[in-house]
Amino acid sequence: MPHSRSDSFKLLIIDDDHEILTFLKDSFEAEGYIVYIASNLKEARKCLARQEVHVVLSDQNLPDGKGIDFLVELSGTGVDVISILMTGYADLDTALEAINRGKVYKFVKKPLDLIFLKQTIRRAAEYHALLIEKRHLAMEVLRHNQLLRHQSEVQQQSLESAQTKIRKHTQKMRWQKKQIETLYTEIQSAYLRTVTSLCAAIEAKDRYTRGHSDRVYHYCKLIGRRLGLKKTSFEALKLASILHDIGKIGIPDKILGKESPLTDSEMHVIQEHPKLAETILAPLPFLDKTRQIVLHHHERHDGKGYPDGLKGDDISIEARILAVADAYDAMRSRRPYRKALTKRAALAQLKAGAGKQFCPLSVSALSLSLEQEGEGHQEENHPLTDFLFLSPSSPPSKKERKSSNPK
Ligand SMILES: [Fe+2]
Repeated sequence: MPHSRSDSFKLLIIDDDHEILTFLKDSFEAEGYIVYIASNLKEARKCLARQEVHVVLSDQNLPDGKGIDFLVELSGTGVDVISILMTGYADLDTALEAINRGKVYKFVKKPLDLIFLKQTIRRAAEYHALLIEKRHLAMEVLRHNQLLRHQSEVQQQSLESAQTKIRKHTQKMRWQKKQIETLYTEIQSAYLRTVTSLCAAIEAKDRYTRGHSDRVYHYCKLIGRRLGLKKTSFEALKLASILHDIGKIGIPDKILGKESPLTDSEMHVIQEHPKLAETILAPLPFLDKTRQIVLHHHERHDGKGYPDGLKGDDISIEARILAVADAYDAMRSRRPYRKALTKRAALAQLKAGAGKQFCPLSVSALSLSLEQEGEGHQEENHPLTDFLFLSPSSPPSKKERKSSNPK
């Protein structure tokens, strides 16, 4: 038994022999225990009802019952009491069974051996102290686990709350991004519609160029199909057909509308229109490919074109196709100072210029396509109304389309 606890350690002794009771009380009080005594089970129960007791030392044969039954009863109450049974040889089997069932800590034989009894009580006290310590530790572990569980729940809630906030924030950001993208697309589309509408309006106003972009795209398609162009190239060519001369907005009307041949300086001014177009289309990044085609639609295969003097394959295939389609339509259109060329004459001019002014591949592709149609074939107007949402007020008359002159 730990010495520090001896003065507070409480022992109940139950025996109907008064002399033994007194002897044991004196002996254990001398050891520092607090000793209670009872001469029968009734007194013992009263004592336990009033007092906390750590060890009960009970005789087996008592006037009002068996000590073993009392100790078994005591073990069922859940109180932390260490039970020791005093018994003679006659009750040894009963005592051993009780011990084996875990109801009694030890038994001591009568007649009593005081030294052995003191050792047994001391060990019982130590065992009791361990039992209490173990219970405290178990309680501490339980309390700690509850605390951890609580902290874990709080952290989980806080994590879920943060996740919810992040999710909502992300959704809001996505929504805002979508709004901005939509707005940006709308602005770009509005700008593009304005520019294309302007092109269409200018084209419709000029009886010599009316329907030009529609026909240019038609020729681009004929060439592109022969050359196996990708879908994206056709889309870019479609827009480039509409927009290629948008830069002419910046050219004075007196030069554009001049009915006599242009002077060198006037020609120089006219040659600014691809670069002006590039500037006008610059706010539309999604038109990058189209802008490059428009910029280079007056480059020549031999490098003598404008604005960059590109040569051969350095010019994109789309720009080479557009150059051929544009020139062919110009030859086939009437100008104030000349008649429109026939299909045969226009194709002859293109072939003569193949490898010099024009891309030979594009010229061959257009020639093959048009020659298959035959001289009598009526070239159709192909309005790009699906894109523009508006078309020239009226298509060019047959007369207008049959006679025109390239500028
Ligand atoms: Fe042009």
